[in-house]
Amino acid sequence: MAILRILETPDPVLRQISVPIAAVDDSIRTLIADMFETMYDAPGIGLAAVQVGVPKRLLVMDLAEPEEEGAEPVKEPRVFINPEILTHSEDQLLYNEGCLSVPDQYAEVLRPDRIRARWLDEHGAAHEEDLDGLLAVCLQHEMDHLEGVLFIDHLSKLKRDMVLKKLAKARKERGSRAA
Ligand code: NI
Repeated sequence: MAILRILETPDPVLRQISVPIAAVDDSIRTLIADMFETMYDAPGIGLAAVQVGVPKRLLVMDLAEPEEEGAEPVKEPRVFINPEILTHSEDQLLYNEGCLSVPDQYAEVLRPDRIRARWLDEHGAAHEEDLDGLLAVCLQHEMDHLEGVLFIDHLSKLKRDMVLKKLAKARKERGSRAA
């Protein structure tokens, strides 16, 4: 397994539309393993393949609560290949979102709080389920990546400019510390 480099905005690859995966084979399973290792290392709760420079319709997620201090981490890895949203609720949920491609920046985004989705798993088996709460929000956030959309695109221009300004400032501070 390998830790992959996570692309950050404004990398143009993040704006590409990801292509469907035709066959769930060993090369895809290797990519999945590397994506989990990269996501846990970051750490983050979700990662789309395009964020590591592979514009294919593949997401990994793990929403497990942080384990108790000193305890062995309990992992709940989830894989979504070629995911589709079939229906979504009218009710919406406001959630403070972040993204490994917009590091350390957070902003509230409103999304449907229940969805019905279908996808393939890492063995190529089909699943269809009703999802709600954080799982529904996170899947929608990750699926946006497949369309080249970032959570900051859901914000007003004013709010988005504020987030990008804070990101630029944080990068500049990191750079000057390293120099
Ligand atoms: Ni993201």
